[in-house]
Amino acid sequence: MKGILVTNAFWQWRKEAFDSLANALLDAAKKRNIDLIPRTNQDFLCALPDLPAVDGDADFVLFWDKDVRLARMLEQAGLPVFNSSRAIALCDDKTLTHLALSRAELPMPRTVLCPQTFPANGYPDVGFLNQVGEMLGWPLVVKEGFGSFGYQVYLARTAEDAAGIIRKRAGTPLLFQEFIRESAGQDLRLYMVGGECVAAMRRVNPRDFRANIQHGGHGEKYAPTAEETALAAAACRALRLDFAGVDILQSARGPLICEVNSNAHFTALAALTKADIPGSILEHVLQSVVK
Ligand SMILES: Nc1ncnc2c1ncn2[C@@H]1O[C@H](COP(=O)(O)OP(=O)(O)O)[C@@H](O)[C@H]1O
Ligand SMILES: [Mg+2]
Repeated sequence: MKGILVTNAFWQWRKEAFDSLANALLDAAKKRNIDLIPRTNQDFLCALPDLPAVDGDADFVLFWDKDVRLARMLEQAGLPVFNSSRAIALCDDKTLTHLALSRAELPMPRTVLCPQTFPANGYPDVGFLNQVGEMLGWPLVVKEGFGSFGYQVYLARTAEDAAGIIRKRAGTPLLFQEFIRESAGQDLRLYMVGGECVAAMRRVNPRDFRANIQHGGHGEKYAPTAEETALAAAACRALRLDFAGVDILQSARGPLICEVNSNAHFTALAALTKADIPGSILEHVLQSVVK
């Protein structure tokens, strides 16, 4: 069995952590006698309509990147890509994730998608924020469609706060979300592979409403309930994800999907739970390719 591992050539921030994820996937492949070749997204330049030259007899691509155009090209070249370009694109933009999960009628915090403007126009009139406030209450959460590690997630206490946030991000997808007060600074991370939960933790952050480790959160061992696992599995089905990190908020009205990550980092979770997450990912890919 031969596969290609695609990572991003330009990633700089905490590069060691990023490299260690790739190395863990390469090690897991080696243990299973899979020849997994590391490549980056700059190794496949091609002049369309030619398709990228890929290592001849590769059976699959493990796509550890968000370059959805390259993922699509590799699919067009006839390779099975994990996760698929469609699944990665849906997860990468939280506004699209939300639409797909709403369609599947999965419970999530109440959400309003922000009307999109053009970068050159900005938001000269933000009167609609009063309406958003009436729908969701204050404070509310503002999220950029594209964001990770909690860095593009904000708490707006007033319409003025929200205006300041969105004006700086004109032209990008944005959403407003009901603030789930009772779960402030806490969430669950379920690592799902092939519809099964292979590892889970509760993240707790006493210093910030965002539970992300990057904002001071820490992981605690946690055994998810059947309802939480079923919800995470349903989210993966709706987004057609082979593997994912699913964030769940424990609200007074039950578990709610917060967001879904198609390329979730697993180092901290694997260390906490001793679960072999890269091994599970490779096993799942193997089974899917052999089918
Ligand atoms: N609607 C919400 N109510 C309360 N807390 C939230 C809400 N949305 C996000 N959070 C907190 O912010 C963190 C980051 O948000 P998330 O949507 O997971 O973005 P990211 O992709 O940056 O991790 C979550 O882990 C959670 O702790
Ligand atoms: Mg998250």
